[in-house]
Amino acid sequence: MAVQRSDIESLLAEGLPLVQDAALRAKVVDAFLLAAQEGGWQSAGELREMPFTLLTDTHGITFWEHTLAVTRGAIALGKAQSETYPRMPYRIDWDRLAAGGLLHDVGKLLEIERRSDGAWVKSRRGQLARHPISGAILCARVGLPDDLVNVVACHAKEGEGAPKVVETVFVHQADFATFDTLVMLSKNQLIQ
Ligand SMILES: [Fe+2]
Repeated sequence: MAVQRSDIESLLAEGLPLVQDAALRAKVVDAFLLAAQEGGWQSAGELREMPFTLLTDTHGITFWEHTLAVTRGAIALGKAQSETYPRMPYRIDWDRLAAGGLLHDVGKLLEIERRSDGAWVKSRRGQLARHPISGAILCARVGLPDDLVNVVACHAKEGEGAPKVVETVFVHQADFATFDTLVMLSKNQLIQ
């Protein structure tokens, strides 16, 4: 059976309550549902097992665990500043930050696919457009605001040197804190 709305809500169960606005929360689910449909995902069980990257050994960390860790990390970065500085030099939109964390890798549902032999591989679509690009398109298609499109489009190397909303910066840093450590671990450069 194709992936249902309730499947997405269950895969994002711990992350969705971090978005306060119900309409925005619904659009986050809309974007994942569209990604699951367009990516041709046939079962929520298979989607649940998807690794978050093909670029390094993920040590079993799934896409959904990565997404939640990045969202929590990005919120923590925002809180570290807003709770410490007497005057914040810029405003943080907490819903944009939470939704951006949840959505930053939504394009990976188009970028990664499972071959019939069970191997996780980059799809043809993923070769044509990396997940920040395909994810930004998905977000725009479901009517998410342009500010969130900026988070998704610019959270990785595509955003280098580009103007960003502050939430993009926090999502980027939280994302690379999860990614760089694993890459270093695989290269024996993470001292333990
Ligand atoms: Fe990510």
